[in-house]
Amino acid sequence: MFDRKMTELGKERSAIRELFEYGNARKKQIGEEKVFDFSIGNPSVPAPACVEDEIVRLLQTEPAEKLHGYSSAAGLPAVRKAVASYIQTTFGVPMSEDLVYMTCGASASLVVALSALLRAGEEVVVPVPYFPEYAVFVDAAGGKLVPVSTDERFHLDLGAIERAIGERTRAVLVNSPNNPTGAVYAEEEMRALGEILAKKSAEYGAPVFLVADEPYRELVYGEPPVYPMAVYKDTVVLYSFSKSLSLAGERIGYIAVSPQCGHADELFAAVCGAGRAHGYVCAPVLFQRVAAACLGMVSDVGAYRANRDLLYTALSDMGYACIVPEGAFYLFVKTLEPDAKAFAEQAKAHELLLVPSDSFGVEGYVRVSYCVARETIERSLPAFAALYAHYRGARGDRRAPFRRK
Ligand SMILES: Cc1ncc(COP(=O)(O)O)c(C=O)c1O
Repeated sequence: MFDRKMTELGKERSAIRELFEYGNARKKQIGEEKVFDFSIGNPSVPAPACVEDEIVRLLQTEPAEKLHGYSSAAGLPAVRKAVASYIQTTFGVPMSEDLVYMTCGASASLVVALSALLRAGEEVVVPVPYFPEYAVFVDAAGGKLVPVSTDERFHLDLGAIERAIGERTRAVLVNSPNNPTGAVYAEEEMRALGEILAKKSAEYGAPVFLVADEPYRELVYGEPPVYPMAVYKDTVVLYSFSKSLSLAGERIGYIAVSPQCGHADELFAAVCGAGRAHGYVCAPVLFQRVAAACLGMVSDVGAYRANRDLLYTALSDMGYACIVPEGAFYLFVKTLEPDAKAFAEQAKAHELLLVPSDSFGVEGYVRVSYCVARETIERSLPAFAALYAHYRGARGDRRAPFRRK
């Protein structure tokens, strides 16, 4: 009756959203504190003070039309300028305000950038596991997602990426710090990726773009990640303030096209065209201004680190197999039976809401979002122990259930 693909997409709902809705209903039934909701990546720590300060300042000093009226389609010139100069000074790469497009968060950045880059049927190589919406966005842009394996720590398998790039490959899409694994790609890994892309671009006589989805850039527990534009010239960075400033509901981010891209102006024109075609013009103006005033500020990463340490140590001690996250706020845990969906269903019996890994492109894991109150993790530990005991008997049985294919 209506567009078949869109109807199916609407009815299907993402596994994450489905679980999130289930959690909300369940909390109403049995009480908020009895449900251990690790489903969604909603930042749990407050925005840094500069956010509220700037909102208040703007509301008190600026006329309404400067806060709630339209901006240029690509964003306010002063905001684009601030973003470009931030990128330039922080990461030491050339950047121009003419190549910055303000968007409604990383989702919009992905839709717009992929639509600008991809011609019908072109391929996007994506390391697995990946953020499930990539499949939706690549498909909506008329492309084909080509999954490639990662290594045992969920870092890049450069050989697999090289083998996956063919003449129809338009881009490699990477996400570091990674959702759902917490992997943060090392500088040498990114440089090696850049070299492969340069080699393949030369081989096929057309650029293979590096598309870097970076909503978690600042949420790292070690060295800050190298800036993608510093390792490869045909790079487009997609950024969002959803996580760094805990502003997920305000829908604000940007696309930055590297000035070193061949035909950067043409690519930026395509970005503007894609923004127009998808109705993503003029990102929320109040939050464009707030974000520009808070560039480089980050909400309390220490709280996420403490959650990571608590959860990782406790689950590892119980016998669960997982790799210590280097960034973001997700723990990717090997399931205790091969069917991740069945395992996540069993977890629900213990009021644990864990996202099965199938929609992330791999089998046999669940994602635990630890962007929750510390007490939630503390109170959930007996439930994790009971879930473990359900499968392996006595708590503390350390027979390794963990084998990556
Ligand atoms: C890897 C990744 N990309 C994109 C997004 C979308 O972010 P936004 O809220 O900015 O649209 C998310 C959200 O969780 C994400 O994890």
